Amino acid sequence: MSDNKATLTVGGDTQDYAIMDGTVGPQVIDVRKLYANTGMFTYDPGFTSTASCDSGLTYIDGDEGVLLHRGYPIGQLAEQSSFMEVSYLLLNGELPSAKELDEFTRTITRHTMIHEQLTTFYRGFRRDAHPMAIMCGVVGALSAFYHDSTDINDPEQRRIASHRLIAKMPTIAAMAYKYSVGQPFVYPRNDLSYTANFLRMTFSVPAEEYEVDPVVVDAMDKIFILHADHEQNASTSTVRLAGSSGANPFACIAAGIACLWGPAHGGANEAALNMLREIGTVDRIPEYIARAKNKDDPFRLMGFGHRVYKNYDPRATVMQKTAKDVLEKLGVDDPIFDVAKELEQIALNDPYFIEKKLYPNVDFYSGVILSAIGFPTEMFTVLFALARTVGWVAQWNEMISDPAQKIGRPRQLYTGPTQRDYVPVDKR
Ligand code: SDX
Repeated sequence: MSDNKATLTVGGDTQDYAIMDGTVGPQVIDVRKLYANTGMFTYDPGFTSTASCDSGLTYIDGDEGVLLHRGYPIGQLAEQSSFMEVSYLLLNGELPSAKELDEFTRTITRHTMIHEQLTTFYRGFRRDAHPMAIMCGVVGALSAFYHDSTDINDPEQRRIASHRLIAKMPTIAAMAYKYSVGQPFVYPRNDLSYTANFLRMTFSVPAEEYEVDPVVVDAMDKIFILHADHEQNASTSTVRLAGSSGANPFACIAAGIACLWGPAHGGANEAALNMLREIGTVDRIPEYIARAKNKDDPFRLMGFGHRVYKNYDPRATVMQKTAKDVLEKLGVDDPIFDVAKELEQIALNDPYFIEKKLYPNVDFYSGVILSAIGFPTEMFTVLFALARTVGWVAQWNEMISDPAQKIGRPRQLYTGPTQRDYVPVDKR
């Protein structure tokens, strides 16, 4: 707690509000007593200046383009760690020993199957249903099958539910893809790594053996790491708000998936690749840059800009390098990658983007890699949700285990009619 305070005078009455320090980053002014003292609320739609909680999971410095998970820089984790190890780190706060990692991985592996009855859920969807619609439905339905891990006040049930969610998302995601292409579901295999298992469940067919390409496994695992957690973004805040009411973890994660789907958030990776394909060739870039700058045109450069990063998103840096490596190793020559790189260069030298501090974000290059691996664009946000599940679950556990946590219930600035009497219809 900082020894300094903020002083606010309202209507002649002066009150002090404590200023609190984090371990690093912006301080906060504790306004919890503001309404009791002044009868006024703070006003911050979009929460541009509001800290909703304290958290020790992820730190972002938007001006410096820094992203730390439990203190470790995302670049180091992406290059040296694995998604399973980063998942352990987010959930437990420290990097695991070899024995701890092995035990955690084995636990996750043994939760990858889903209740067989859940496969009937898929048959209720049209084959052309967006896989994010399927994810919302099937993940929400998990609470109907795993009653023995829905008591949020029991740490052991929270632990099992957390492992079930992390473990089953790849299986559910792969099944959504298989259903969309009319191929049979592929069951998980316990002799494969988390990411290799997911790729095999997605791309293998019963008619032949499937060899997982280590280049693709490495790229996919890196993509999962880059998407694992990101402070109090919209979908994480949704999970926390849902969880604050005591809702079960499966329902909370389903709420997070729904929020992530939006094109301003996790849906941007699908929208960014569709945009790059619509642009098509480098010579058409100026037309789209002009549209992005035109106030009367709702078009935005998808994969560009960020609420927090006013510098390069460090994940985009890793993503661009991974895209280059994967396309080279897979021998994929995708002109879209050239369009993306040229678009980035033009935008980063354009006064509009410089003034508004708009840089590529995590979603700008991810689609190039996912497309090269063979995923349809509709699956991109599903992959984001798969990876972000560990972040959502870790944030949810952090909130639930905080003895000070209470139900989230924001107030408003009311702008509707004042009280008036009902008028019968024959008198209107
Ligand atoms: C993710 O929060 C997170 O951490 C999210 C995420 C995570 O890991 O969880 O990082 C993942 O969601 C990344 C963001 C993916 N979304 C997109 O790429 C969609 C395109 N980007 C924009 O919609 C926008 O940049 C947001 C939504 C990402 C951020 O919006 P803000 O912070 O509310 O900023 P804003 O909309 O107020 O924009 C500020 C100005 C505006 O111009 P003015 O009204 O001030 O004149 O910048 C302009 C905007 O018009 N602007 C853009 C732009 N993004 C912002 N102009 C053109 N193209 C863009 N992409």
